[in-house]
Amino acid sequence: MLTAVAGALASRYCSGKRPGASWVRGLRGKGARVADDRLGLIVEGSLVDGLSARLDGRQSIEDVRVGQFVRIVGKKHDYFCLVTDVRLDATNRDLLADPPQPADAFTLEVLAGTTAYGALAIQPMLMLARDGSDDASAQNGPLPVRTIPPHFAQVFTAVEGDFDRVFGEEADHRFEIGQPLDMDVPVRLDLTRFVERSNGVFGKSGTGKSFLTRLLLCGTILSGAATNLIFDMHNEYGSTSQSDGGYQVKGLAPLFGSRVQVYTLDRHSKTTNNGVIRFGLNEIEIEDIELLADELRLNATAVETAALCESRLGKDWMARLTDEGVSAAELNETVMAHEASIAALQRKLQMIRRLSFIEPHVSQKDSGLDLLIGALANKQHVVLEFGHHSNLLAYMLAANVITRRIHREWTRRIEESKQGRGQEPPQLMITIEEAHKFLNSRAADQTIFGTIARELRKYNVTLLVVDQRPSGIDDEVLSQIGTRITCALNDDKHIDAVLAGVSGAGHLRAILASLDSRQQAMILGHAVPMPMALRTRSYDQTFYEWVAQANSKRPAASTASTPWGRGPDPVAASLTPKRGYKDLFPNDD
Ligand SMILES: Nc1ncnc2c1ncn2[C@@H]1O[C@H](COP(=O)(O)OP(=O)(O)OP(=O)(O)O)[C@@H](O)[C@H]1O
Ligand SMILES: [Mg+2]
Repeated sequence: MLTAVAGALASRYCSGKRPGASWVRGLRGKGARVADDRLGLIVEGSLVDGLSARLDGRQSIEDVRVGQFVRIVGKKHDYFCLVTDVRLDATNRDLLADPPQPADAFTLEVLAGTTAYGALAIQPMLMLARDGSDDASAQNGPLPVRTIPPHFAQVFTAVEGDFDRVFGEEADHRFEIGQPLDMDVPVRLDLTRFVERSNGVFGKSGTGKSFLTRLLLCGTILSGAATNLIFDMHNEYGSTSQSDGGYQVKGLAPLFGSRVQVYTLDRHSKTTNNGVIRFGLNEIEIEDIELLADELRLNATAVETAALCESRLGKDWMARLTDEGVSAAELNETVMAHEASIAALQRKLQMIRRLSFIEPHVSQKDSGLDLLIGALANKQHVVLEFGHHSNLLAYMLAANVITRRIHREWTRRIEESKQGRGQEPPQLMITIEEAHKFLNSRAADQTIFGTIARELRKYNVTLLVVDQRPSGIDDEVLSQIGTRITCALNDDKHIDAVLAGVSGAGHLRAILASLDSRQQAMILGHAVPMPMALRTRSYDQTFYEWVAQANSKRPAASTASTPWGRGPDPVAASLTPKRGYKDLFPNDD
């Protein structure tokens, strides 16, 4: 019967030619037994241009979506691939010139998947040795693709097991960061690799950067991959805060108790904290003034005058320069610059002196900084809240001064440990927001953040930069960002910056452009084997419960009651630290 139908259709659509061998074969194929979940067969392609698959007749083209993951079964390898395009094709162009009528359901049914078929463009992303293979890659996990599967290799929709093979199975150092856009399987980030380099969370306002950052911080805290210092400009990482939607969002302290210390720069802060940080003008160096030039509205000449002041007035240069009792003329006797320039500088630097966490001179012991650095050295995570100081001047100044101190400490300790004196300090990840302000081309050459980004993890310090404007970050610094997690961006120059130096950027750009404007992101780089668009894991009650459960599996952290409900009272703990800064760094004066 089918042969008769095929003959009739052949005479209509294959007029005068060979009697439609391919679609007759196709009809026969319809009866053959194939795996239920098979999408189709590879028919042509190349490593450079990607592969083409013919969709099986039983599969609907409407069920295949661009961005979907598929597995191609080669003889020696499985290929983990991305569908980059879907297309309609026909073996006979006559069919397209004289298509069957929509009412002719029977003809449509017979032709669909045979003479007329769906085709998929597929980009191989990774290859994995087939089970039982003696290929060396069996031990090494996914490999970059360097070859392609043979003709007629079968294509399947990727399933959870495939994702596990690519992203690794559940483990302490693998953190579920989300799920692929149209599948309910976990995508895991390798946190050990994550903290090895500086990383970035990018996206326009309101896309979920802070939520994503909280997730990443929870992952690193739980796994112990790194100790965290968070410069929390908007007071959203330490204690409980309010989301855009007006509901309460837990910070890290309520989730992790005494493992997270919250300090504040705001002496009037009403949030529960472990101590108030203040520091003296004596901590401020010319590097800070250079960084703050825009915020202080200083031109290049004013910055040069400040540098002269620093070199000629000595250690207390900032205190003297901003002392209202000292005139510009008096100062100029020592500085020997332009008196009017000094007077202008004096006025502008008052903006710093007026910050309530700045005092003329604060000894290291009294500043609270020692306690903060001691906590980090003791592997306690620290959130520094800015309270009402949520302006860039306060944020950049405090972050730069504190990070410089920490970096000096970490560098010294690493050098000493190399000489066999003492242990290395712990791996530290410093989270900063508005990163382009610290890492733009001008600042990156001068600031401590540029140094950290460039020297990788040489001194056990890396950055987690959070930013809406990645194109504002220096190219060289961006190229050192190991893992980039990017939410929706609507400016081409920011998308270009995030994808700079990434192979296959063309199709990644299309995926990035199609992300929803909330709670979706594309992850690429060092901590994942391949770029992947995902729905970010929800940071909500279910996640809090998961954290509580994971916490309870850890060896005996204290469970006594605290202002946040877990661990010892952090305020009391900070007043009587078990190991203070001096215990940890006895040689430091
Ligand atoms: N992973 C998530 N879990 C739960 N809610 C989320 C998540 N990601 C985003 N949201 C929702 O999106 C809103 C905006 O997220 P978020 O505050 O992180 O944006 P943002 O990119 O940091 O914005 P801004 O640049 O203004 O700081 C949140 O208030 C929350 O409602
Ligand atoms: Mg935010």
